[in-house]
Amino acid sequence: MDLKERIAAELVEVRDRSLAYTSAEDDILIRQHSPLMSPLVWDLAHVGNYEELWVLREAGGITPLRPEIDDLYDAFKHPRRDRPTLPLLGPEEARTYISGVRGRVLDVLDRLDVHDPDPLKAGGFVFGLVLQHEHQHDETMLATLQLSRTAGLVRDLAPPPGRPVEMDEVLIPAGSFLMGTDDPWAYDNERPVHRVDLPAYWIDRFPVTNGQFAEFIAEGGYEDRRLAQMGVRAPLFWRNDGTGWWRSRFGRLEPVPMDEPVQHVSWYEADAYARWAGKRLPTEAEWEKACAWDVGADRAHRFPWGDDGIRANLGHTSARPAVVGAYPEGASAYGVEQMIGDVWEWTSSYFQPYPGFRTFPYKEYSEVFFGQDYRVLRGGSWATHPTAIRSSFRNWDYPIRRQIFAGFRCARNASDVA
Ligand code: AVJ
Ligand code: FE
Repeated sequence: MDLKERIAAELVEVRDRSLAYTSAEDDILIRQHSPLMSPLVWDLAHVGNYEELWVLREAGGITPLRPEIDDLYDAFKHPRRDRPTLPLLGPEEARTYISGVRGRVLDVLDRLDVHDPDPLKAGGFVFGLVLQHEHQHDETMLATLQLSRTAGLVRDLAPPPGRPVEMDEVLIPAGSFLMGTDDPWAYDNERPVHRVDLPAYWIDRFPVTNGQFAEFIAEGGYEDRRLAQMGVRAPLFWRNDGTGWWRSRFGRLEPVPMDEPVQHVSWYEADAYARWAGKRLPTEAEWEKACAWDVGADRAHRFPWGDDGIRANLGHTSARPAVVGAYPEGASAYGVEQMIGDVWEWTSSYFQPYPGFRTFPYKEYSEVFFGQDYRVLRGGSWATHPTAIRSSFRNWDYPIRRQIFAGFRCARNASDVA
């Protein structure tokens, strides 16, 4: 399949996904389920409006279909909590609008010269931008559906079984590696590739599990000052009725599976656990080296296991992380497992530009978020699509956030005594 055929197929796939998550009755789409989230109907029209802006106007030079609605779907003009009060397009109107945009987008794709020197068009960049953007919003919609306890819209096949594993650590020897990527569809914040030298460190072979986290709770982990201040006592969606831990997942109550990576914890909970365990969170450089670097080949891989294929719980066929041990074939060159496809992993790093960073194509994607307000998450969750994740991909959020599909693994300096 050539690049343009692949883009066309991926456009169909992502739109099917967005439409599936918004196939609920109108009330569920219009209502705001949490002040942290947009109404689903906002996300739906927003992905079409973003596609119109970048593919039709900026790359295609086509006049807008509905310029009067731009303001409503500009994420910077209206914070999420205010979006339900806006005169948004209704569900049917939104579907009509985004499919109208999509028809013209396919015309632009047809005319695209993938060797065009325009950086927006070269290598189909602008199509990669809108594909990843829509998949990111699909993951956001899943978080909204989880908060709303809506069942039935989400595919939930059982992920593969685990295997008996030792929850040990992997020693990553001292040395430099190349951080970041020159992948043509990568975001500006992943560039440029630059050399980073790290001393030796240990990193957990697996993400921290529900069972390990339950032990932390049982031993008074939440008596931490910061967690007490937040008023949290367990991961979001967990409850304990005296018979043990239960969780609500897309509207269903089920026992918490102890061998699954923990999710729905804030950065503060992850950090408190790491300190309790005598460890710390990895920096994002430590995370990326353990994930991508192949010291034998002297280069980084797109995914932990290599450059192609999918050997991880990605692709939103199961609506939960896979239990630990489920993907031995997805291990990184260093032998670290399940770095991609189960939970986003909190790191100790603030979201900051790499040396030599240049904004492209607009500063509201990355640049305006740089600083000390956000912590970086790596790896991608079960809700992340393969097109919207790679070893170098950087996500970020406020450290208090728990509705995203985030967990963590720990690290420690090799020089520390165990
Ligand atoms: C990279 C996931 C933090 O959802 O706010 C979506 C992605 N940017 N629309 C977000 C994004 C513009 C972004 N994150
Ligand atoms: Fe967006």
